[in-house]
Amino acid sequence: MIKEPISKYIPFVPLKMERRAWPDKEITQPPIWCSVDLRDGNQALVDPMNLQEKLEYFHTLVDIGVKEIEIGFPSASETDYEICRELIEGGHIPDDVTIQVLVQARPHLIKKTFEAIQGAKNVILHFYNSTSTLQRKVVFHMDMEGITKIATDAADLIYEMSKPVLEQGMNLRYQYSPESFMGTEMDYAVEICQAVLEHLHATPEKKVILNLPTTVENCMPNYFADEIEYFISKLPSRDCAIISLHPHNDRGEGVATAEMGMLAGAERIEATLFGNGERTGNVDMVTLAMNMYIQGVDPGLDFSNINKIREMYERCTKMKVGERQPYAGELVFTAFSGSHQDAINKGTKYMEESHSEKWEIPYLPIDPADVGRAYEPIIRINSQSGKGGTAFVMQHTFGFELPKAMHPEFGHIVQVETDRVGTELKPERIYQLFQENYIDAVKPYELVRHSFAEFTDEEGHSHVTFAGTIRHTDGSFQVQGSGNGPIDAFFNAIHGQKMDRFTFVDYKEHAIKRGSDSQAVAYIHLQDQDGKDWFGVGMSHNINLAPLKGILSAINRAVKG
Ligand code: KIV
Ligand code: ZN
Repeated sequence: MIKEPISKYIPFVPLKMERRAWPDKEITQPPIWCSVDLRDGNQALVDPMNLQEKLEYFHTLVDIGVKEIEIGFPSASETDYEICRELIEGGHIPDDVTIQVLVQARPHLIKKTFEAIQGAKNVILHFYNSTSTLQRKVVFHMDMEGITKIATDAADLIYEMSKPVLEQGMNLRYQYSPESFMGTEMDYAVEICQAVLEHLHATPEKKVILNLPTTVENCMPNYFADEIEYFISKLPSRDCAIISLHPHNDRGEGVATAEMGMLAGAERIEATLFGNGERTGNVDMVTLAMNMYIQGVDPGLDFSNINKIREMYERCTKMKVGERQPYAGELVFTAFSGSHQDAINKGTKYMEESHSEKWEIPYLPIDPADVGRAYEPIIRINSQSGKGGTAFVMQHTFGFELPKAMHPEFGHIVQVETDRVGTELKPERIYQLFQENYIDAVKPYELVRHSFAEFTDEEGHSHVTFAGTIRHTDGSFQVQGSGNGPIDAFFNAIHGQKMDRFTFVDYKEHAIKRGSDSQAVAYIHLQDQDGKDWFGVGMSHNINLAPLKGILSAINRAVKG
C-alpha cells in the first residue's frame, strides 16, 4: 500500500443535493425481485453451471417465489441458448414467472435473442450498453451522443422486432441498463434513459424497466441513494418506467446500497442467492429479504428452509456459503461468548415465561426456526463460554435444569476442560463431565439399603423416620434419624456420623425423561464448616431416593476435595 492513496485513486465526487427526502422514508413493501443468479452469478463461476444444474437452480428460485428470473445471455453462449430453449420447450416455466434474457445493444445479438425466446409466454428483453465517463474514455472512445445512439438504435430494432412476437401473444416487456450507471454523469444518465423510453414507446400502461446498476460499487450507499433520488426527480417520463437496481458489492455495501436505493424510490432489485456474482458478487437476495422480514415486512420470498437452498446452491455453483454469511452461514445462530450465552439463556426463559409473541432474545435478531434452523445448537461451548452457556446446553440438550447457584461450579468444571483440550466441547462431552463429577460421585459413602416409616399426626404434621446402611471404604455402618420429610430424616440420620460438618442449604428436584425412561433428578446444595458450597446430584426412578443420592454425591465430592 502507498502512503498517499489520493495520489493514485480518484475519490468519488458526491452530488450536491440541497435537500433529500430518502433519509426520512421507510421500507414498507418488498421490491419486485429479479434473480440474476443464472446469468450474472453463473458468469462469475469458475465452472459455469451445466444444463441440469441450471434447471435445478431455476426450480429452486421458482419455489422461493421469485417471479422474474434472468436465465442467461443466449446470444453470447451456446449453452445459455440451449438452456433457454429447454426451459421454454420443456415446460419448466410457470405461467406467473417471467424469464429475462440479457443482450448487448448490438443488432446481430438482438436478432439471435429473439430466436432464443420464441414460444415463451412472459419475457423481459434486457439490453444494455455502457455509459460511464471511464468506459466512454478507455473502452469505447466515444462521446455521449455516440453512446446514446447505440442505445436508441437498439431500442428501435427491439421495438420493430417485437411486433410479430407481440401479435403471437407473447407478454414481452423491455429492460434497459445503462451499464456502469454509478460512474455516469447523472444528467447524462437521465438523458440516455429518457431517450430509450421514448424509442421504446414506453407508456404508464407499458412501462419499461430502467435498471440502474452499480456495475462496480464506487461510493457510499448514501451517495448512491442521492443519485437515485436525483435521477428519478429529473426523469421526464418517470411514470413510464420501473426503476430497478442491480447492486454489486465491491465495497461490501451492496445490501445497504439496495436498501437506501429503495428508500430513494427504486421499485425493483436484481440480486442473487448468497450474493454470488462477478468479483465480490451481486447484492445478496437472502440478506436483503430477511432484513425486511425482521423489520416486519413480508419480503414475498420463502426462505423457510435455508439449509436446503444453501445445499443446492453449493452443489450447483461449487461455491461456499461462508460461516458468517447473514441468516445462512453455519455459525450465525451460534453463541460461544459467555455473556452472549447468558443473555440468550435469559431471553429464552423470558419468552417462555412471558408467553410473549414477539421475538425478544438478545444476540439473536431472528428466530432460527423461521429459516428452518431450530434444531442446531444455538449455544456452543469453548474456552470463551461461560456458566450460562453450559447450563443452557444441559437444559436444552439433555433436560437438566441445574439450579442457578450450581451454574458457577459446573461452569468452572467445563471451563477447566475447554482450557485443557483447547477446542470446542460437544454437548455429549459436557454431559459426560456432569455424569463423572456428580452422578458418578458414589464413593466413599454409598447408601446400600434403607427404609422409611411415615405417619401424620392429628395436626396434619408429617413425621418420617429413616433407617439405612451406608457403605464406606472402611466398612458399613447403620444410620437412623427422623425429620419432617424424607430428606430431613436422612440428613439427620447421617449428621451424627463423620458427615456432620455439612449444613443443608437448598434442594431442587424435577423429572427427566430420556426416551421412554422417566427418572427424578435431585440437585443438592450443602455447605461445609468453612462456608464452602458443595453440590451433588442424584438420579433415581424413586423420587424419595434421588435426593438421598444427591446428598451423598455432594458429600463424596467434598470428601475428595
Ligand atoms: O453489473 C452490471 O452492470 C450488469 C449489467 C448487464 C446490468 O450486469
Ligand atoms: Zn452485474
